[in-house]
Amino acid sequence: MIPVVKGKTEIPADRGRRVGGYTMEVLFTRQVIQERVRDLGARISRDYQGCEPIIVGILKGAVFFFADLVRNITIPVKIDFIRARSYGSSMESCGKVDITKDIEIPVQSRAVILVEDIVDSGLTVEALVEHVMKKGASSCSICALIDKKERRLCDVTIQYTGFSVETGFLVGYGLDYNERYRYLRDICILNSGE
Ligand code: IMP
Ligand code: MG
Repeated sequence: MIPVVKGKTEIPADRGRRVGGYTMEVLFTRQVIQERVRDLGARISRDYQGCEPIIVGILKGAVFFFADLVRNITIPVKIDFIRARSYGSSMESCGKVDITKDIEIPVQSRAVILVEDIVDSGLTVEALVEHVMKKGASSCSICALIDKKERRLCDVTIQYTGFSVETGFLVGYGLDYNERYRYLRDICILNSGE
């Protein structure tokens, strides 16, 4: 079971430190993240040449990844956002996905790329791909900064992956724990103390 961070919440972006008996350690530095985002932007630019895809950021976790990614794509794109809630405030998916803010640009007959911070059970992206395809998109691919495999419950294909991890609860670069730590520039892992 992954520990809960208690106590101080003002964690410096670039330092692992002990917080209420738990440690927060940097897993992916801002430099490594930017390199991966550049690669993903280059791949998407090649794959979608000539078709002006609609890049849809999944709020709120993907916000920084999305902003960096779209600026590393060198072909014309349209951008929009969708918001889905599956987690409440715990570390585990509740298994139900609510769309609380929908895409506003018409996606009919358009190529859509959903940009997600982290795919865990896969329920969120599975539900959102279905939603986008029901709206008549011609295709819907997934670009996830992190593919976390251990708790996967459905068979989703992630076309563009930044990093793969087996397990662990990650925060920073948009990822939160109870709405905290999204602002960290690096991606950190919460570990139980020694
Ligand atoms: P899924 O539906 O189980 O794939 O959950 C995806 C959502 O759960 C992500 O968009 C995140 O908001 C949240 N999530 C899953 N794992 C983590 C994590 O390690 N840190 C922060 N949020 C996470
Ligand atoms: Mg979240």
